[in-house]
Amino acid sequence: MSVNTPTRDSFSNKFGIIAAAAGSAIGLGNIWRFPYVLGESGGGAFLLIYILFVIIIGVPVMISELLIGRRAQLNVFGAFRKLAPNRYWNLVGVMGVGAAFLILAFYSVVAGWTLQYVYLSLTNALSGRTPVELKAVFENVQQSGGISVFWTLLFLGGTAYIVRSGIEKGIEKYTKVLMPMLLVIILVLIIRALTLDGASAGLNFLFNPDFSKITSDVILEALGQAFFSLSIGMGVIVTYGSYIKKTESLGGTALSVSLADTLIAVLAGIAIFPAAFAFDMAPDQGPGLVFITLPNIFNKMVGGYIFGLMFFILLTIAALTSSISLLEVVVAYFTEELNLSRPKATWIACGIIGVLAVICAFNSLVFNVFDKVSSNVLLPLGGLLIVIFVGWIMGAQKPREEIEADGRKAHYYNGFLFVIKFVAPVAIALVFLKGLGWI
Ligand code: TRP
Repeated sequence: MSVNTPTRDSFSNKFGIIAAAAGSAIGLGNIWRFPYVLGESGGGAFLLIYILFVIIIGVPVMISELLIGRRAQLNVFGAFRKLAPNRYWNLVGVMGVGAAFLILAFYSVVAGWTLQYVYLSLTNALSGRTPVELKAVFENVQQSGGISVFWTLLFLGGTAYIVRSGIEKGIEKYTKVLMPMLLVIILVLIIRALTLDGASAGLNFLFNPDFSKITSDVILEALGQAFFSLSIGMGVIVTYGSYIKKTESLGGTALSVSLADTLIAVLAGIAIFPAAFAFDMAPDQGPGLVFITLPNIFNKMVGGYIFGLMFFILLTIAALTSSISLLEVVVAYFTEELNLSRPKATWIACGIIGVLAVICAFNSLVFNVFDKVSSNVLLPLGGLLIVIFVGWIMGAQKPREEIEADGRKAHYYNGFLFVIKFVAPVAIALVFLKGLGWI
């Protein structure tokens, strides 16, 4: 706990902030969701729109969230109560907490699959299998009912255990060493994937945009994926902002985190699509894509047993550093707004999420609805309100003061202001209305 803010923890240094925020951003969203949504959305054209959205909407929304959090020194709910002129703005916080519940529910299920794959790798149950058999293995995992619930709840319990112990001890310690290791394994996977026969078709799918594939649905999916992957639009980053010291740069933090997040997603794509095409698997097969494709690569490489095992362990940890950030929002809300103790808040939140997660584990329709509604509706809506708040409601001085609190002049400020006042809100609103079929 730092000396100048006796009641709030704060990150100890710059690397701590970026590691924790990148730990939140980098997770199943990059390695599981990005490839599967890109595969369903036709490939390269989706990638282009995705990157465009990260730049013109993602980074500005992230800076906005950071500055709201640091200004208010509170979680998303309290922040709007403190900074906003009327209580309607609390809606952003309420939507954020609601989105956290939905996301954690299906996220825990996917993390539970990942844990099952750790187990399958450990017991050598994946090696020597044909692509067709590996597909069946995933379907078994997905439909394993009670077994799936066991791993899902194990993951959720682990998340709760870490969150209960507080921000610095809970988050910083785990992310700094392990994320670089995940990156190394992905690079090794890429090398093997690219040297498979027929790999070039996958690269072509990923990097050669076919503009006829662009529909309003694809654009909405790209927007939703950008929000999901960057952890923005629901106040996760507001909470993180409240832990950042005044001497740190908000713009620099947002840029580094977004860059790292996008890099990992694209690298995951470079490993997965060449392999998917080489093994003759459909890129648009949905949420199972990663789990079916990657074991095929491990089976074709020297040391595949150990690489596969380490990959799924590290992916679980990447998921954990994301899920703790989601749970942190709910817990911060329960403790600071409802005056519950931290352990109590954590276990109550987990009880509710556990029930939702079990429903997701048994019912893929509910799973899909939670997945799509949170990313494509709640997060963009939250992001829209956040940029409108910073651009139009906070006043001309405060955002600038907060961004320049580190003592350096922000030369990008006017550009940033233009984007959050006009470009981002209009873009989100248009994509949104079009995706819903209203225009
Ligand atoms: N971004 C994380 C991932 O890619 C998931 C996540 C964590 C998230 N916190 C979030 C998504 C907040 C939306 C909002 O896996």
